[in-house]
Amino acid sequence: MQSEMGKLVEDNRKLQQRNKELEMIFDSSYDEIFVTDGQGITIQVNSACERNYGIDAKDLIGKTVEELETMGVFDQSVTKKVMDTKQQVTMFQKTSQERFLLVTANPVLSEDGSLQKIICNSKDLTEVKKLKKKLEEMEQLVEKYHEEIDELKSARFSGYVFVSKQMQHVMDLVSKVAKTDVTVMITGESGVGKTALAKQLHNHSTRQNQPFLTVNCGSLPENLIESELFGYVEGAFTGASKGGKKGLFESADGGTIFLDEISELPLHLQVKLLRVLQEKEITRIGSIKDVPVDVRVIVATNKSLEAMVEERQFREDLYYRLNVVPIDIPPLRERKDDILPLIKHYIELVENKYDKNVSLSTDAVQHLMNYKWPGNIRELENMMERIIVTASGSEVDVRELPGNITASKQQVVHYDTIDSLKNFLEKQERELFQDLYKDHPSSYKIAELLNISQSSAIRKIQKHISQK
Ligand SMILES: Nc1ncnc2c1ncn2[C@@H]1O[C@H](COP(=O)(O)OP(=O)(O)OP(=O)(O)O)[C@@H](O)[C@H]1O
Ligand SMILES: [Mg+2]
Repeated sequence: MQSEMGKLVEDNRKLQQRNKELEMIFDSSYDEIFVTDGQGITIQVNSACERNYGIDAKDLIGKTVEELETMGVFDQSVTKKVMDTKQQVTMFQKTSQERFLLVTANPVLSEDGSLQKIICNSKDLTEVKKLKKKLEEMEQLVEKYHEEIDELKSARFSGYVFVSKQMQHVMDLVSKVAKTDVTVMITGESGVGKTALAKQLHNHSTRQNQPFLTVNCGSLPENLIESELFGYVEGAFTGASKGGKKGLFESADGGTIFLDEISELPLHLQVKLLRVLQEKEITRIGSIKDVPVDVRVIVATNKSLEAMVEERQFREDLYYRLNVVPIDIPPLRERKDDILPLIKHYIELVENKYDKNVSLSTDAVQHLMNYKWPGNIRELENMMERIIVTASGSEVDVRELPGNITASKQQVVHYDTIDSLKNFLEKQERELFQDLYKDHPSSYKIAELLNISQSSAIRKIQKHISQK
């Protein structure tokens, strides 16, 4: 009897101990645990509720969830939803303490299916929500900064329009080399903006307030180029001015000299140019005196100097001296993203010039986007002027576009008209050769453009053009 009594006391003590432990676990949970009976009367809550509602756990006991909702302790009761559905419910809840909770409420049913208890578990997402908001704000800020950087980048190159990835790379390189005195070789087809880019390079260099002089090596006769570039002394040749004349290298002292169409520079002048680059001094024609010059040299070409070097039409040593930083401007057809901004740019310029207000129809823009622009930006610039000046109304429609644009293939493939891949490719090849041959009636040029041998270019020309 005595020992049975002792066992009961011991069991009771163990039970109490276990109870305490469970209460401790219940209370120390960071998540809020909120228990009501089947009628929604609060019967048990842990201390997390004080953080979420600002109310002591003991003051919540006995209150219905309805009352708590009316008091504004939380915005919507999840327990009520479970009372309606007897199903597990998960919802967001906002509390009087501005906490943001994710609440999952579970019904506890008795054997007869009636609601016995509802147990809510609430996860505090306030910090997560704050962090999410902060992250969104940061992302918006980063996006804004990116836009500003892009704007600053293009604003820096005022008047030089570009948005395409290809031109962004080009302009990043321009930014890097502008401030140095390094020789730059700009390559690209006619009208892509080589001269304009040379000016940008100068305008962003430390020499911007010094002269920027251009010499077109292709448009001056050989003897004139020499005296233009290097100058002469009195009596150097018949017809030489009295007192001699300064050459452009001397006039550009402190600034930049831009040698356009450098491929056309005669071989004996290539030697003289090499000397300027290497020794930074010139000798006027007829003089024996060396004159030091501090000039940055930028050159441009739309011919392949590399091929000319191979054919011994251009000095290899000069080629390497000039090609320190090559900058290749891609043709407009390879950077279609620039077409629309350029159109807008020229509409604005021309509108101001002629005091007109003109827009383009979507169809017209589509045609301009699909056109191949063999004359690149120069062609686009001239065409925009022509279109706007001759526009009859305020909107220019396809019918008002020049014939070469509307006649150009709009690169639409009608799949239902393809009979076989071989015929399709054959047709494409014929069109390509006919197009190319119009602009470049030379097997050598076509072979170069298509990177095929000249003999196969001749064969294809015979097949597609000569025997049409
Ligand atoms: N990115 C650009 N943004 C605005 N205008 C441009 C741009 N590039 C070129 N242009 C304009 O297009 C026209 C042709 O450009 P530019 O004369 O520089 O071409 P180019 O490559 O030097 O041609 P060429 O090989 O015939 O010398 C110029 O009026 C120039 O101002
Ligand atoms: Mg040019």
